[in-house]
Amino acid sequence: MVKVKKILVVFGTRPEAIKMVPVVKELEKHTDVFEVKVCVTAQHREMLDQVLAVFNLKPDFDLNLMAENQDLFDITAKVLLGIRDVLKSYKPDLVLVHGDTTTSMATSMAAFYMHIRIGHVEAGLRTYDLSSPWPEEMNRQVTDRLCDYYFAPTETSRKNLIDEGININKIFVTGNTVIDTLLMAVDLIANNKDIKHTINELLSGFGYNLKESTENAHKLILVTGHRRESFGQGFLNICLALKNIAENHPEVDIVYPVHLNPNVQKPVFKLLANNSNVFLLPPLDYLPFVYLMQKCYLILTDSGGIQEEAPSLGKPVLVMREVTERPEAVDNGAVKLVGTNPEKILSMTSKLLDDSKFYDQMSRSSNPYGDGKAAYYIVKALA
Ligand code: UD1
Ligand code: UDP
Repeated sequence: MVKVKKILVVFGTRPEAIKMVPVVKELEKHTDVFEVKVCVTAQHREMLDQVLAVFNLKPDFDLNLMAENQDLFDITAKVLLGIRDVLKSYKPDLVLVHGDTTTSMATSMAAFYMHIRIGHVEAGLRTYDLSSPWPEEMNRQVTDRLCDYYFAPTETSRKNLIDEGININKIFVTGNTVIDTLLMAVDLIANNKDIKHTINELLSGFGYNLKESTENAHKLILVTGHRRESFGQGFLNICLALKNIAENHPEVDIVYPVHLNPNVQKPVFKLLANNSNVFLLPPLDYLPFVYLMQKCYLILTDSGGIQEEAPSLGKPVLVMREVTERPEAVDNGAVKLVGTNPEKILSMTSKLLDDSKFYDQMSRSSNPYGDGKAAYYIVKALA
């Protein structure tokens, strides 16, 4: 008889939760092989709980560590000590972490110190520039030095790992689990007419009435931003760019669910609250956000996950960063890097709004990040 393996899945932030939900659900289908428990560090609180609620996921351990305007020392130290206690009490055979957050890096360190095996979901992404994204490039490189099993989303990430000397037998190319979750959300929205009504009511409650887009009117530009390396001048530039877009293009609605980080909230609300075609919203639940991605004309963001989701929905993305660890959609034309220079952001946005040929080239639907079965491949490899 096969001994059931104890797997502890650890995550802490909104995007990790979105991307680990399908893995947890898939592991739970195989109780003959795995016992799975979920530990959230709650590096995020409200934004994490939004995801847990949508997918009805109840953590077995909750470190509840978030503090207002926390710094990297706070998170690293609290995760390291908190996870130590969870590992001591649960004694898993394997810890699964995701991506490049401080939760993932510090959890990997804790598991390493206790000689517990580690699997890294979304392994092998690289910019090879430790200053961008900061501190994520360090987090993902450290996690990949410590882990035992690598679930690389693409061939590019597999190649990065091989070039770093990782044993090819430990690497599994699975696609990105974000596509599993996205397809689940798209399906839920398509097959439940009440959801669209509920989403419209929710948006309306936040002061935004979603209008049907026509050729020249009410084009919706969806915006998100939160990167630490852009705090200060970078965010002032992004806000200036959005203000200029709003003024130069009165026909567009700019809809911006603002990240709860005070370093984002302060400049964004100070500089953009008084523009009549800029709508500043709280962070949205996953389904309303996916619905807005489906309805929008283009996306301006610095998010990793959105760079992966938008090409599947055929939406052009302008990435407000200088480099990306996700080159696949840049290579196939769906994503362009515009940095945080206000003139560049405005000129590329205007080009997409005014040049339909350019828009059509970028909005061809493509999906370099997986077929929606990444969690299945990950669990198969683990089994
Ligand atoms: C974190 C991750 C980043 C990831 C991002 C996703 C690190 C270092 N950063 O950055 O890689 O891309 O999450 O969004 O791991 N806050 C709340 N409620 C929430 C969430 C955040 O109030 O639900 C506020 C708090 O004041 C908190 C602050 O935002 O202290 C910063 O949160 P933190 O997780 O440290 O950084 P993020 O910028 O969210
Ligand atoms: N997202 C969401 N609500 C929002 C904004 C984003 O559910 O208001 C989702 C989005 O679809 C994507 C993820 O959150 O799956 C991206 O998270 P974030 O940008 O915070 O982190 P990153 O991906 O950059 O690490």
